[in-house]
Amino acid sequence: MNTKILHVDPSSILFNKDEGIETCTPIFTDPKTKSYLDEASIILRSHKNCIGFPTETVYGLGASSLNDESVKSIYIAKNRPLDNPLITHVASLSQLHRKILPPSTKIPDIYLPLIKKFWPGPLTIFLPVEDDTTLSRLTTAGQDTFAVRIPNHPVARALIAISDEPLAAPSANASTRPSPTLAEHVYHDLQGRIPLIIDGGPSNVGLESSVVNGLTNPPMLLRPGGISLKQIQEVGHGWEDIVTAKKTANASEPVRTPGMKYKHYSPTAKVILFVKCGNGVKAVQEALSRYPNSKIALLTGSEFEIPETLQAQFAIVDHLGSSITEMAHNLFAKLRNLDKNDMDYIFIEGVPDAGEGLALMNRLSKAAHETISNDSK
Ligand code: TXA
Ligand code: MG
Repeated sequence: MNTKILHVDPSSILFNKDEGIETCTPIFTDPKTKSYLDEASIILRSHKNCIGFPTETVYGLGASSLNDESVKSIYIAKNRPLDNPLITHVASLSQLHRKILPPSTKIPDIYLPLIKKFWPGPLTIFLPVEDDTTLSRLTTAGQDTFAVRIPNHPVARALIAISDEPLAAPSANASTRPSPTLAEHVYHDLQGRIPLIIDGGPSNVGLESSVVNGLTNPPMLLRPGGISLKQIQEVGHGWEDIVTAKKTANASEPVRTPGMKYKHYSPTAKVILFVKCGNGVKAVQEALSRYPNSKIALLTGSEFEIPETLQAQFAIVDHLGSSITEMAHNLFAKLRNLDKNDMDYIFIEGVPDAGEGLALMNRLSKAAHETISNDSK
């Protein structure tokens, strides 16, 4: 299969503020962007293939959530295990009600303040699956809930609105690879396996959405992501009690927590993660001495002060970012870039595993082959 890439201009798509998230009627000011999204819509409506498209978190691999054959195409293209369920993306609340929820179903009250504050945006919620659901059962992988969000990337939202197909979409990487934040990452992993990638520039957030379950008491944070735990707690109305789910599951357990069972986010090189290592000099020096004759890259954050003599021992030294937001935005792209350079090891400076740093550290710990932690400066 030939994989086509079409470049669209996200800033040319406008949304009517009065509509909020109730409905979604995008206005296209660039005819080319409109015609490319029409072309993508035709593929999505044919229910045969999935396509790559940008969201504000990471690129998604989307296909209609309502059809077994289209959902199956996602699992096949990604080589994703069938028991790992998918998030459904909708353009508006009215589309969610019209296409998925049974007539007169209400979204549970607990979600309303959260939705009001964070949709459209990087927050995914769980809703109950009805017996006669219109959703392909392959999206839920046997769970009694389905995951849903309204993305706030203009291209994603417009595409879902004009195709009028709720899109099941995991991150558009090959399974176990770092999530894609550029169209070229999707092309690298999935060329020849999907017909189309819509290129709408870089994904801003860089990490996936936060996933919460408000159907349990207390509510649970299943995956930290684009909306921080603190932002969720601040909403109140029960969310102040939210607990964080455990990070790992046995191979025989059904997937309860996003990503808990499968290896994720891994570059080919082995990641060595440094936490609480002060200016890093001692810990980095010690770790370097354990890997002689290896090609090693160093990705620094805001605390490390590595002298030039020590830097000279690395094949590549790069700065991940000076803030957690910047580090999150850059992480997956930098890991992929380093893989292109055939590193054996990547040393990465971590951040405190709390507050704003939770989502970044969740991804870093999953990528890490080894974590080096000490308090010495
Ligand atoms: O930001 C995002 O969420 C991106 C973009 C494309 O929207 N999508 C994404 O999808 O990260 P994916 O498939 O890579 O991660 C979704 C996670 C999976 O780990 C899956 O196990 C979990 O959500 N999940 C989805 N539906 C679920 C359900 N009904 N019950 C439990 N876990 C679920
Ligand atoms: Mg993923």
